[in-house]
Amino acid sequence: MPSGTHTAGEFDSHSFDSVIDLPIELIRLVIRSTRITVLTGAGASQESGLRTFRDSQSGLWAQYKPEDLASPQAFARDPKLIWEWYAWRREAIKAVRPNAGHYALVEMEKRIPVFTLITQNVDGLHRMAGSRNILELHGNILRVRCSVCGTFTDFWRDDHESVPLCETCHGMLRPDVVWFGEPLPRKELEEAVKASRASEVFFSIGTSGVVQPAATLAYAARNNGSVLVEINAEPTPLTPKVDFALHGRSGEILPDLVRACWPQG
Ligand code: APR
Repeated sequence: MPSGTHTAGEFDSHSFDSVIDLPIELIRLVIRSTRITVLTGAGASQESGLRTFRDSQSGLWAQYKPEDLASPQAFARDPKLIWEWYAWRREAIKAVRPNAGHYALVEMEKRIPVFTLITQNVDGLHRMAGSRNILELHGNILRVRCSVCGTFTDFWRDDHESVPLCETCHGMLRPDVVWFGEPLPRKELEEAVKASRASEVFFSIGTSGVVQPAATLAYAARNNGSVLVEINAEPTPLTPKVDFALHGRSGEILPDLVRACWPQG
């Protein structure tokens, strides 16, 4: 297991030595909240040892521009190359585990009546940790769908020689992720906007807040009276707009926050 990763058993709600001073107003607010919406980005997976999309373009893959590996045009040009790139990324994901931040969000969901987790991450780590009400805005790298008829499948045969085909229509299968130039899945986006607007507290965690339309969700929340909380390793364009900015690692701050809110476990 890479350093910096944690198992569910490591979420200890009794020992408490907070990494930062958590504002008491925030703790009170979270405890009282009935509707919390969370948006996560690449930073939430960082402590699992996963590199971001751009960082993962190392070695053999460094010669390609992101659009050459993640766009419908690239897939039409060379589907086998795209399959190889995603197979490589899937292997990297299989080698990592959710971190303490992922597990803290699972704990928070258990205690908040209406809890929505919106993620831009395609790594599936929130699901692996045990989060339930998840909206995957950019898809999931561990799933594939048919590029022709759209049928989803969790199972496919990859012989590394040819591109796997759809059992229904024999079209080429592709990863179920949103590529450059493609719209976000409509249902997920609509539900994400709805959950953001309806939230009492909105957390923006480990996201640079510059990729649209996910970045607008925080504003949708704020315009409807939600309290904004940012957890990020460094300030972002959203920071001046938030009510609480907690700077540091989400894998440390989130477990601290959950322990501070529910010390009895
Ligand atoms: N804890 C909290 N925040 C962190 C941590 C950490 N341990 N490590 C890094 N961060 C923050 C960085 O400071 C940065 O603001 O996470 C953010 C990551 O930003 P991006 O790499 O831009 O990722 P994200 O906002 O998720 O980008 C959205 O863009 O490249 C595409 O498909 C990709 O879905 C992704 C989308």
